[in-house]
Amino acid sequence: MALPFLCSVLIFTFLFCNPPPLSAQPQQNISNFSSSDSPWRPSQGQILLSPNSTFAAGFWPTPTSPNLYIFSIWYLNISVHTDIWSANANSPVSGNGTVSITASGELRLVDSSGKNLWPGNATGNPNSTKLVLRNDGVLVYGDWSSFGSPTDTILPNQQINGTRLVSRNGKYKFKNSMRLVFNDSDSYWSTANAFQKLDEYGNVWQENGEKQISSDLGAAWLRRLTLDNDGNLRVYSFQGGVDGWVVVWLAVPEICTIYGRCGANSICMNDGGNSTRCTCPPGFQQRGDSCDRKIQMTQNTKFLRLDYVNFSGGADQNNLGVQNFTICESKCLANRDCLGFGFKYDGSGYCVLQLKRLLYGYWSPGTETAMYLRVDNSESDQSNFTGMTDLLETTCPVRISLPLPPEESNTTTRNIVIICTLFAAELISGVLFFSAFLKKYIKYRDMARTLGLEFLPAGGPKRFTYAELKAATNDFSDCVGKGGFGDVYKGELPDHRIVAVKCLKNVTGGDPEFWAEVTIIARMHHLNLVRLWGFCAEKGRRILVYEYVPKGSLDKFLFPARGILKSEEDYAEDELLDPSRPPMLDWNIRYRIALGVARAIAYLHEECLEWVLHCDIKPENILLGDDFCPKISDFGLAKLKKKEDMVSMSRIRGTRGYMAPEWVKMDPITPKADVYSFGMVLLEIVSGRRNNEIQDSLTQSEDWYFPRWAFDKVFKEMRVEDILDSQIIHCYDSRLHFDMVDRMVKTAMWCLQDRPEMRPSMGKVAKMLEGTVEMMEPKKPTIFFLAD
Ligand SMILES: *[C@@H]1O[C@H](CO)[C@@H](O)[C@H](O)[C@H]1NC(C)=O
Ligand SMILES: *[C@@H]1O[C@H](CO)[C@@H](O)[C@H](O)[C@H]1NC(C)=O
Ligand SMILES: *[C@@H]1O[C@H](CO)[C@@H](O)[C@H](O)[C@H]1NC(C)=O
Ligand SMILES: *[C@@H]1O[C@H](CO)[C@@H](O)[C@H](O)[C@H]1NC(C)=O
Ligand SMILES: *[C@@H]1O[C@H](CO)[C@@H](O)[C@H](O)[C@H]1NC(C)=O
Ligand SMILES: *[C@@H]1O[C@H](CO)[C@@H](O)[C@H](O)[C@H]1NC(C)=O
Ligand SMILES: *[C@@H]1O[C@H](CO)[C@@H](O)[C@H](O)[C@H]1NC(C)=O
Ligand SMILES: *[C@@H]1O[C@H](CO)[C@@H](O)[C@H](O)[C@H]1NC(C)=O
Ligand SMILES: *[C@@H]1O[C@H](CO)[C@@H](O)[C@H](O)[C@H]1NC(C)=O
Ligand SMILES: *[C@@H]1O[C@H](CO)[C@@H](O)[C@H](O)[C@H]1NC(C)=O
Ligand SMILES: *[C@@H]1O[C@H](CO)[C@@H](O)[C@H](O)[C@H]1NC(C)=O
Ligand SMILES: *[C@@H]1O[C@H](CO)[C@@H](O)[C@H](O)[C@H]1NC(C)=O
Repeated sequence: MALPFLCSVLIFTFLFCNPPPLSAQPQQNISNFSSSDSPWRPSQGQILLSPNSTFAAGFWPTPTSPNLYIFSIWYLNISVHTDIWSANANSPVSGNGTVSITASGELRLVDSSGKNLWPGNATGNPNSTKLVLRNDGVLVYGDWSSFGSPTDTILPNQQINGTRLVSRNGKYKFKNSMRLVFNDSDSYWSTANAFQKLDEYGNVWQENGEKQISSDLGAAWLRRLTLDNDGNLRVYSFQGGVDGWVVVWLAVPEICTIYGRCGANSICMNDGGNSTRCTCPPGFQQRGDSCDRKIQMTQNTKFLRLDYVNFSGGADQNNLGVQNFTICESKCLANRDCLGFGFKYDGSGYCVLQLKRLLYGYWSPGTETAMYLRVDNSESDQSNFTGMTDLLETTCPVRISLPLPPEESNTTTRNIVIICTLFAAELISGVLFFSAFLKKYIKYRDMARTLGLEFLPAGGPKRFTYAELKAATNDFSDCVGKGGFGDVYKGELPDHRIVAVKCLKNVTGGDPEFWAEVTIIARMHHLNLVRLWGFCAEKGRRILVYEYVPKGSLDKFLFPARGILKSEEDYAEDELLDPSRPPMLDWNIRYRIALGVARAIAYLHEECLEWVLHCDIKPENILLGDDFCPKISDFGLAKLKKKEDMVSMSRIRGTRGYMAPEWVKMDPITPKADVYSFGMVLLEIVSGRRNNEIQDSLTQSEDWYFPRWAFDKVFKEMRVEDILDSQIIHCYDSRLHFDMVDRMVKTAMWCLQDRPEMRPSMGKVAKMLEGTVEMMEPKKPTIFFLAD
C-alpha cells in the first residue's frame, strides 16, 4: 500500500519541482574529462566546472521528462537554470546514454542505440586531449569548440558571424547573422550589417563597426544573446535577486510582425507586452490557430476593408506601385489567385496582391495599410477592423493630443478647453486644498492613460519626406533650441499643426534600427511626455517631428537671466500675464511640475511596453505646456547614441551636474541614473538655483556639492528657508507649504544617494511626492567624485 503512494509522491516531486539532476547522488565536480576517465553517464551526477565556477556542463534532465537527459552547459551559480548550449536538445538520451572518448580520440555522445549525437567532428589525441570548460563558457575538445556550433545563445565575445542560431523549439532561425527567418526561409526581420559579437558591456557589434546598444550599457556580470522560442532575438543581463534575467535589447519591438505566431488566414493582435492573440477576419471562422472561410468564393466577389491589417505571406510580395486605388483593385479582380490586396492611402501607390494564400497577418496601426479582403458576394459579415479614429470617436469622450488637424474641433476639444480652464482657475485662486488637487490630478492622469494607452500605443509615427519638413519649417529658418541631440526648429504642417522639428546629430544605427526606435518612442503616451508625431529618415538625415510645446523649457522659468530680475517689491500679480518675461512659478505649480515629471519618468521606466531610460533629465528637457503642465522631451533618444557621446555631450554643455556618479565610473547605467538626475532637478525646482551655482561666496571651494550643502541646511541646521528660492520666498507660508516643500526636499535627498541601490525606484519617487508612502530620513549625500 505504501509503495504506490511513495511513488506518486516521487513522481509529483519530479514533475513539479524540476529537481537538480539526481540530487540524491553525491555530486562530483571535475575540471576535465579525458579518455582515461570511465564513460560519463547521467546517473553519476557528475559536472564539469569552469575554473572560476561560473559555468557547468553535464547531463540535465529535460523539462518534460525527468528520465531523459540533454548534455548542456548552464550557469552554475544562478537560481534560474539557464541552458546556454546543448549537444542533443532534439534527441535526449535515457539514463544509459554516455559521453566518452574513444581509443581513436573521438569525443562521442551515444544513446542506447549506439548512435553518435555529438555535434560536429570532435577529434583529438586520445593520449592528451581533454574536454574542458573555460571561464567564458566555451566547451573545448582539441580543435572542436561549442562556440563553433551554438544552439540558441551567444555569449560575450563569441563570434556570431559564421554561425546559425536556432530557437529551442526549432521554429525560428537567425541566418547569416543578418536575418530572422520562420519556416527556414521566410524572413521577418533583417539588419543591413551582420552581427559579429556581443561584448560584456552590452554592445552588439556589427560588420561595418556599427553596434546595437543595450539599455544597461556598462559592465554586467552576465549577458547573453538568445533567439527565443517566440522568434525574437534578445539580449539579456542578469540583474540578480528577483529580477533574474532582464531584457536589455530586442530585435523586433512589434511582436506580431514575427511570422508564424498565427496560422493561415488569421490575424495577430498584440495585447501589450509579449502577449498576442489570433483573430479571424470577417467571413472566416476559427479552427485552432488558423481560420477557415465560411463561404467559398464563387465567380462574384467583393472586398471588405480591414484597417491597419497587413498580410505578408502571399506568393508574390512585390509592390506594384499603382496610380490609384481603382487600378490596384482591378489588378486583384483580374487574377483568380488573388485573395486580397494591401493598399496605402498616403499617395505612394503602395499595392501588394496576396496571391494563393493569406499568411502572416497582423494588425498594427504602424503599417498604415488597409487590407482589402476578397470574399464571396453573398458574405454578410461586416469588417470589424475599423480605423483608429472611428474607434476613438465612438468610444472616447475626450481626445487628448491626438495628431489631428485643429480644424476638427468638436465637443471633444471643447472638453479639453474646459479641463484647462479648470486648472487655470485653480491656479489663479491659489487656495486649493492639497487632497482635492491631488484627486483631480490623478483623475486627469488616468484619463490620459486610458486614452493614450488603450488606443494609441501602436499608432505608427508618420514618415515625412525631407522636402515636406523643409517646407514646414520655412527652410529651417526658425531655430527655437539647440540641444545635445540636435537643433530644433519651429514649423507648421500643411494641416496647420505647429510642430517642433528636431534634426538629430551623430545618430548610430541604420534605417531599420532608427525606424524601430522611433516606433517605440511614438508608442509612449503620457500626459507629461512630449508627443512624437513623425520622423524623417532620408539619405542619412534623422529628423523627429514633435508637438510644439508653447512655453518653452523649465530652466527659463527657474533661472531667469539675472538682468531682468526685479526686487521682491516690484513683483506683482499681473506679471503672470506679461508674455515678454517668464512669470515666477509659485509653490503649487512647482510641486505639480515635479509630480508630473516624476510620473512620466516612472511611466518610461515601469509601465511602457519597452523599458526606456531617459539618461538626460534636466530643466532644459522639461517643457511647459499652456497650463504649465510639464512635458518631458528627448526621451528614448539615448538609445540612438553611444554612451561616450552621452557623457561628453553633457560635459560640453556643462550639465554634468545632473549625471549620476555611475556615468563617470564605468558602472552599468540603470534606471537609478535617471532617479539621480531627477533628484537634482527637484532640488533646483525648490531652490531656484543651478546645482553648480555657489551662492554663498564663503563656501566657495572645489568640492562644494549642492546636495550635501542642502542636506546640512535642512537636516542639520534645520533652516529649510535657506535653500528655498529667494525669488518667491515671500510666498512661502509654512502652514500652507511646509508639508509639500518638505516632501520635495526629502524626496530629492533620497534620489541623490550616492549608491544607485540606495535610491528609490521612480514609481516610489512619485509616491513619495504624492505623500502616499511613508518616508524615512534620508542619508546624507556625500561624495561626488568626478575624475576629470
Ligand atoms: C561542486 O561545486 C559546487 C559549486 O562550486 C559546490 O557547491 C559543491 O560543493 C561541489 N561538490 C563537490 C563534491 O566538490
Ligand atoms: C584533470 O582532472 C584531474 C582530476 O579532476 C586533475 O587532477 C588534473 O589536474 C586535471 N588536469 C588538468 C590539465 O586540468
Ligand atoms: C555565487 O553566488 C553567491 C551569492 O549570489 C555569491 O556570494 C558567490 O560569490 C557566487 N560565486 C561565484 C563563484 O560566482
Ligand atoms: C538502455 O536503457 C533502456 C531502458 O532504460 C534499455 O531498454 C536498453 O536496453 C538499454 N540499452 C543499453 C545499451 O544498455
Ligand atoms: C567528420 O569527419 C569525417 C571523416 O573525417 C567526414 O567524413 C565527415 O563529413 C565529417 N563530418 C562533419 C560534420 O564534419
Ligand atoms: C598514445 O600512447 C600510446 C602508448 O603510449 C601510443 O602507443 C600511441 O601511439 C599514442 N597515440 C597517439 C595518437 O599519440
Ligand atoms: C569567470 O571568468 C569570466 C571570464 O574570464 C569572467 O568574466 C567572470 O567574471 C569570472 N567570474 C568570477 C566569479 O570570477
Ligand atoms: C567574423 O568577423 C570577424 C571580424 O570581422 C572576422 O575576423 C572573422 O573572420 C569572421 N568570421 C567568419 C566566420 O566570417
Ligand atoms: C513551411 O513552408 C512549406 C513550403 O515552403 C509549407 O508547405 C509549410 O506549410 C510551411 N509551414 C508553415 C508552418 O507555415
Ligand atoms: C517576453 O518573452 C521573453 C521570452 O519568452 C521573456 O524573456 C521576456 O521576459 C518576456 N517579457 C515580458 C515583458 O513578459
Ligand atoms: C471580428 O469578428 C470576428 C468574428 O466574430 C472575431 O473573431 C474577431 O475577434 C473580431 N475582431 C475584432 C478586431 O474585434
Ligand atoms: C485611376 O488612374 C487611371 C489611369 O491613370 C484613370 O484612368 C482613372 O480615371 C483613375 N481613377 C480614379 C478613380 O482616379
